[in-house]
Amino acid sequence: MTNGPLNDVAATTDFTRNPLLAIVVIGASGDLAKRKTYPSLFSLYQRKLLPSHTIVWGYSRSRLTHDSLRKQIRPFLQASISESPQNEELLQSFLNMCFYQRGTGYDDINAYHSMHSSIGIQKKAVEKCLKDREITSSQRHQNHLFYLAIPPNLFHTATQTITQSFATIPQDSLRILFEKPFGRDTESYLHLSNSLSKLPGIHESQMLRIDHYLGKDMIRAIPSLRFNNPWARAIWNRKYISHIVISMKETIGTAGRGGYFDQYGVIRDIIQNHLLQVMTLVAMEEPETTITSNVEGMRDAKCRLLEDVKIPTREDCVVGQYVGYKDDEQVPDESCTPTFAVIKLFVDNERWRGVPFVLLAGKSLEEKSSEIRVVFRSDIGSRNELTIRIQPENEISLTTNVAGNDYGDGMKQETMVLNLKKETEENHMPNADGAYSKLIYDALKGNSSSFVRDDELRLSWEICTPLLHQIEKNRPYPYEIGSRGPPQAQRILDNDDHHHGRSRL
Ligand SMILES: NC(=O)c1ccc[n+]([C@@H]2O[C@H](COP(=O)([O-])OP(=O)(O)OC[C@H]3O[C@@H](n4cnc5c(N)ncnc54)[C@H](OP(=O)(O)O)[C@@H]3O)[C@@H](O)[C@H]2O)c1
Repeated sequence: MTNGPLNDVAATTDFTRNPLLAIVVIGASGDLAKRKTYPSLFSLYQRKLLPSHTIVWGYSRSRLTHDSLRKQIRPFLQASISESPQNEELLQSFLNMCFYQRGTGYDDINAYHSMHSSIGIQKKAVEKCLKDREITSSQRHQNHLFYLAIPPNLFHTATQTITQSFATIPQDSLRILFEKPFGRDTESYLHLSNSLSKLPGIHESQMLRIDHYLGKDMIRAIPSLRFNNPWARAIWNRKYISHIVISMKETIGTAGRGGYFDQYGVIRDIIQNHLLQVMTLVAMEEPETTITSNVEGMRDAKCRLLEDVKIPTREDCVVGQYVGYKDDEQVPDESCTPTFAVIKLFVDNERWRGVPFVLLAGKSLEEKSSEIRVVFRSDIGSRNELTIRIQPENEISLTTNVAGNDYGDGMKQETMVLNLKKETEENHMPNADGAYSKLIYDALKGNSSSFVRDDELRLSWEICTPLLHQIEKNRPYPYEIGSRGPPQAQRILDNDDHHHGRSRL
């Protein structure tokens, strides 16, 4: 585990308490920056959640100026607000906070130095204007949040150059956000992880790895649902739960990203990160919340769960590929990359021994949905199910048995639905993904529990890597576009004992 004095300090520093903040988007010319990073920052700005004196610097190799960067990102910000003079003013004031530095590469130390000096000059100008009551001496330093919106092969170079050129910044004032993919298997992840951990001037607690699922409202609500409700505490174990299905289904195929997708496949793209993260929250023991452990309590609990997950075998997995996948020009004709996978996992601990966790993800399926189905044991054949739905609605529902008619004869199943749609921010932000805003805000607040720690990633790769290497040699089952995946997938539940057989994937 990574606890230590610096870890605790760095992880708990609340950047929102200091009026001076510089956010640096590395790879500002790219797709992620335009579609997610800048709109999310704008969303925080609109909600007045950024410190009062925030500046946003973009860095990349493209020949942009402050103005052309602003022009480039404007439509993406505009799309998240309605047209009105007030909103236009808000948008313009946000754009005025955005600046650009061009470099010859991600190792161009002179360009980073130049950006550092410009930030320093801006900071001094702000300080001059600030009255003493607005800024205490302990707040006179400036916090720096770097968002790496670049491919992972540039992480090491960019991080090294940041730490060298911003070396005068105290460690607890500097954090770096990283985006997946984090490796393709245990070996490549360890290579990436070791190369970053060996860098001087940067500590694990300053490195925040984004899994955007951890920014989604319903996923964030899982620990509270489990640990703040006596009914949930009582039934959340193998005595009452038959199996749990965690799924993410898409109706679209590769949507023009076949080249990227084919290198990874659905297990690496969705299951190893998003679905395993959801599983850890669903299955972990209650995090310790003592004074000493609360900083890392959640991530410690997730790691302990991952340590107890049994490594799946080939028998525990069915993979498929939709018919027509190889029509994508970027996909090789002989591709065996799965676009569908279902994996059954078991947790070898007192709470879950014998309960299958079924992780399912696929493209070109019958529906777009993302949900967690907790299926309860039943002796009468007709089960209770608690569903936590992340997509298309934020919803919790309970399927329960009730009397069949007014005379109490027979039995039927009804579903109670708790629709949380209106209470979530995501629905007010069609273009800026609310999940990203929440994660950036967590990073500013010093809440590192919503980010994936190095050991969590290592453990999740250790669970998936043997299977990934085995299936590489096999042809996936074909399935029709718009279907529920290959029919063979159902065997994952049917082959289990009689408690699980009748549930449909
Ligand atoms: N797009 C998304 O929605 C999304 C979602 C989740 C994760 N990600 C991940 O986040 C990272 C960035 O995504 P992206 O879609 O923004 O990627 P991108 O557009 O391909 O790359 C971002 C920027 O990085 C620079 N760059 C790209 N390839 C480079 C290379 N080989 N050498 C040097 N610089 C290079 C380019 O800027 P300059 O040429 O101007 O330097 C580019 O504008 C990727 O790893 C991606 O897998 C993306």
